[in-house]
Amino acid sequence: MPEEVELEAWLAEQEEFEPPESFVERANVADANVYETFDEDWPDCWTGAAELLDWEERWETVLDDSTPPFYEWFTGGSLNASYNCLDRHLDDRGDEVAIEWVGEPTDETNRTYTYEELHREVNEVAAGLRDLGVEADDVVTLYMPMVPELPVAMLACARIGAPHSVVFAGFSADALATRMESAASEYLVTCDGYYRRGDPLHHKEKADKGLSRVDHDVETVVVDRLGDEYDHPMGDDEYDYDALVAEQEGAEVDPVERDAEDMLFLMYTSGTTGEPKGVKHTTAGYLSYAAWTSRAVLDVKPEDTYWCSADIGWITGHSYIVYGPLSLGTTSVMYEGTPDYPEKDRLWEIVENYGVTQLYTAPTAIRAFMKWGSRFPDRHDLSSLRLLGTVGEPINPRAWKWYYKHIGGEDCPIVDTWWQTETGGMMVTTLPAIDEMKPGSAGLPLPGLDVRVVDTKGEPVEAGRAGHLTVQKPWPGMLRTLYRNDERYVEEYWSEYSDTASDDPEDWVYFPEDGAKLDEDGYITVLGRVDDVLNVSGHRLGTMEIESAIVGVTGVAEAAVVGGHHDVKGEAVYAYVITEDNSAETEELRERIVAGVENAIGAIARPEQVIFTPELPKTRSGKIMRRLLEDIANDDELGDTSTLRNPDVVAGIQERVRTD
Ligand code: WT7
Repeated sequence: MPEEVELEAWLAEQEEFEPPESFVERANVADANVYETFDEDWPDCWTGAAELLDWEERWETVLDDSTPPFYEWFTGGSLNASYNCLDRHLDDRGDEVAIEWVGEPTDETNRTYTYEELHREVNEVAAGLRDLGVEADDVVTLYMPMVPELPVAMLACARIGAPHSVVFAGFSADALATRMESAASEYLVTCDGYYRRGDPLHHKEKADKGLSRVDHDVETVVVDRLGDEYDHPMGDDEYDYDALVAEQEGAEVDPVERDAEDMLFLMYTSGTTGEPKGVKHTTAGYLSYAAWTSRAVLDVKPEDTYWCSADIGWITGHSYIVYGPLSLGTTSVMYEGTPDYPEKDRLWEIVENYGVTQLYTAPTAIRAFMKWGSRFPDRHDLSSLRLLGTVGEPINPRAWKWYYKHIGGEDCPIVDTWWQTETGGMMVTTLPAIDEMKPGSAGLPLPGLDVRVVDTKGEPVEAGRAGHLTVQKPWPGMLRTLYRNDERYVEEYWSEYSDTASDDPEDWVYFPEDGAKLDEDGYITVLGRVDDVLNVSGHRLGTMEIESAIVGVTGVAEAAVVGGHHDVKGEAVYAYVITEDNSAETEELRERIVAGVENAIGAIARPEQVIFTPELPKTRSGKIMRRLLEDIANDDELGDTSTLRNPDVVAGIQERVRTD
């Protein structure tokens, strides 16, 4: 047998992988007792995380759990996140690179920010924002693509105690407006545009359109990314970023002392209802948790060149491009573009050129790489890599093994990290120097976390059986509430399994709305969302949001959106649509439906297929049977249809999905 085939066969069979010896020798966390020590010393075990930071005032209480589920961490303490990510590194590491920014076009100069340079620009922007009127606790919206000015603006906000709310640049004008309205945000930092697959993409038009739908006055700062490529008109309340920085040249802004529990940022995410949820993260708990998990799971060391390829518009980028890595004083790589431009080896070229030591990416990307073939990574020397990570959705064992072999050279541990916007940082994963890896299974709860898989009554399920994932003890990185909506916070996350009348923290259980199963070693395999939330290419989308966009299109009477399997994206959006008067099932209407979704949410929510149907399958009580629509989208065997009021519609819908 040729060596390659033999290797493939061996990889295909192997279900457990030991941490590579070379990795273990130098790992930040290699003592297997860490699980036990955390358990014995809970919640004080988390002081180790807090001690990774510099404090203005040390905390008095590690955990205040007197009013569950409104937990508070490190109360009595005060600190500043920008100080922790910048100032404290200046003496020792001022000349070291903080952000290594790679633009998409290959013929331009990439930008390198040392800690010293980043510190300078953050101070200037902080001074500029203050001049515009930003005060502590004012929410500043950042609607920017992957340009270095985005982390600069985040840290500038943190410096003056103004929470930021980053809106993913791929979201639509409407999505921006909804978020700004919801947060009553009077300041916006945005950008003229950016590059996508070689073309300049205009962004400011979208921002302008969004602003026209915001009822209150907004002061806007605009980053000029495209230069002469795109001449953007500037309005009265708009300021050019470069001019603002130039005006503040050399300005220094004292980091504002923030209480541990003061809000660091807001991040909107999708839920079951149409309205996005403003997840509130705080200064001390979030930052300690981001730092601790970066150190323990991603094995970040100051001398590393670490790369998380997510977009900063999502929580992954917040925690693991900006706050975690920079608080530890390492070099964080940031890439503007897509992995297939100018060629499908772009990421591997970056790994080789910069000597990247850790790569943290999404299963969707890995599945695309796998489809493109190993000849792309094979062109490059990837031997600088020491650890690989994945996040955002379940990874299938095949993709895991491909990543392990073709990117990691069978010499890098892979961490498959389960977590959420709400958890602030990683929750379930292997510790890379301690635990063996099982492809497809995220692993164990991190030390100090009480994660259990339970049945609908809240009882633990047996190994091998599916249940609901729950978190039964608070943790420092947890969300504190939904912005200005404590009630929805309790209802969304804490009502399923908690005794909500109790003030004993033992009676409170966090429900992340994921299904999971355990194996006999306690390893957790996450099965996916159990609510009406889709995961398309690792992006979280609410079916209700998409449905309400579709119903808003003239000519549409009713819509139901479900997720269907997709080889690369994980899930894809399937939209079943009933037209008004059951007429006009035209291509033109289909296009308007797609455009309606793009306008309301963004291109990421674009339906894969729009299926016109005269009726939707409904139960006798009038509920749409989504499970059935999923089965139809997947061309799977249909589940039980006996409870349907209109079973005869099913065959017709199936036919349309197959032939459309
Ligand atoms: C949802 C959270 C975590 C930051 C990026 C997404 C799914 C996340 C995994 C994983 C299986 C995963 C869950 C979760 N998810 N990581 N390793 N294995 N599923 O954050 O947008 O808040 O989405 O992503 O369903 O609930 P998010």
